[in-house]
Amino acid sequence: MKYYTTTPIYYVNDKPHLGTAYATCMTEVMNLFRSLIGFETKFLTGTDEHGQKVQQVAHQRQVDPLTHCNEFSKNFMETWKHLNIDYDIFYRTTRIQHKKAVQSILTKLYDQGDIYEQNYEGWYCVGDETFYPEEDLKEGLSPTGKPVEKISEKNYFFRMSKYQQPLIDHIQKNPRFIQPKNRKKEVLSFLSQPLEDLSISRPKSRIHWGIPLPFDDSHVTYVWVDALSNYAIAVGFQWEEALFEEWWTQAQVQHIVGKDILIIHAVYWPTLLLALNTKLPDEIFGHGWILNKDSKKMSKSKGDTLNPLAVVDRVGIENFKYFITSEIRFGNDAPFSEELVIQKVNADLSNTLGNLLSRSTNLIAKFYDGQLPPGSPEKNILKTTGLELFKKVKDSILINEPHTACSHIISFLKAMNQYVEEYAPWKLVKEDKTQAGVVLRDTLEGLRISAILLSPVLKIKSSQLLEALNFSWDKSTTPAEKVCSEWYLLNETQVIQKAQPLFPRL
Ligand code: MSP
Repeated sequence: MKYYTTTPIYYVNDKPHLGTAYATCMTEVMNLFRSLIGFETKFLTGTDEHGQKVQQVAHQRQVDPLTHCNEFSKNFMETWKHLNIDYDIFYRTTRIQHKKAVQSILTKLYDQGDIYEQNYEGWYCVGDETFYPEEDLKEGLSPTGKPVEKISEKNYFFRMSKYQQPLIDHIQKNPRFIQPKNRKKEVLSFLSQPLEDLSISRPKSRIHWGIPLPFDDSHVTYVWVDALSNYAIAVGFQWEEALFEEWWTQAQVQHIVGKDILIIHAVYWPTLLLALNTKLPDEIFGHGWILNKDSKKMSKSKGDTLNPLAVVDRVGIENFKYFITSEIRFGNDAPFSEELVIQKVNADLSNTLGNLLSRSTNLIAKFYDGQLPPGSPEKNILKTTGLELFKKVKDSILINEPHTACSHIISFLKAMNQYVEEYAPWKLVKEDKTQAGVVLRDTLEGLRISAILLSPVLKIKSSQLLEALNFSWDKSTTPAEKVCSEWYLLNETQVIQKAQPLFPRL
């Protein structure tokens, strides 16, 4: 089964910050977990390069918009590289192919009568690239606190209201469609009011940096319609049917987005797809925000964002990913500080995982000359829980709970530490070397399974851990499920060395 997962495509009006880094890292982690549990995966990220906001920034910088986009989209690619994020597609809305496909989408909607022309008078927020009705304004600002301007112009509208009821029906019939549950409630409550039609164009007199409407060259496409289409066009929509069939129609599709852009993804996008008679994404997951010290959203417009590169250079990229995956309940807002990362990493990775690895390898090096002691056919608590771990992780990922997946792994590692404390192999070895050997061997097998299951989060550390255990695992040929469903798999012919500290205390 194929699973296609996407981040939002980011505006190129600024550089990546900790909030966008959080979103991209979490999407990568989810994608890697899905690959671990057996899906064939594709992961898209990219940049949203049209619209008034980008046009304005380019103008301020006195460069032409495309030059600006090239530079800023490169910033994103470089940051993701630095954060060791591997994606399959980096989508840019300034691709030629994107323009053609968006135009063919609009032509289809226009030809079938789903687009009409009307005068529009109201408030526009450039920061959010969104129109707001007068009653939504708060003290003269947008609901998100940004400046708005009064606008009166001719626009083209998409008959979104026509698809309101079909969308409500779809949400009700498909419990996985909007997640987590509280977000689904939000969307349904939004849909309990009559839905207005959506303005999908901007006159060129106001903004020229966009895709011209195929049926009226004096207008460009509203940037959100242009941007949302990326998810489908990237996998062949309107240009490569077989690919689209494979990676959209027949695949599981999940959009991971921040809760601030959930309505757009859960209402605008699905109604457009309904009008296009195309399958809707299977899941739209609204994640929470990374908060600053005053428990407010870190944001570019407030200028209180952290530079992810600086943070990660101080705490370590895998420590950062471990913290955001395991400490933050996916979907909730969460405060962020380096102190919080340090506490979590020290507790789980240094004291629990690292300690267990160095203790057990040290004892094997010392008392068994590095020869891996044989295990025992008898059942014990480690073996039983260790062999159940893959399923627990899989079940957690299938319900979008990576934090629960991590907590199962850490509970297992804690149980192993306790087990080792109880049996005290450093003493037991003097009375019953065989039994002490079994305790150590079981511990290493448990570490092996933990390392495999943590690999979506700790890409490098987990392979180093497996290396320390002399376990070579080629995930392209051997599914994780297989190596996690057998217990004594470590190679007995190779010498175990006392492991280097893999997770030094921060
Ligand atoms: N370009 C649009 C998305 C188009 S998708 C078809 C856009 N871009 S954005 O650059 O503003 O950022 C988007 C994502 O970053 C959103 O999902 C938003 O929630 C996320 N974040 C921005 N600040 C954030 C935090 N402080 N914390 C977590 N995520 C945050 O919107």
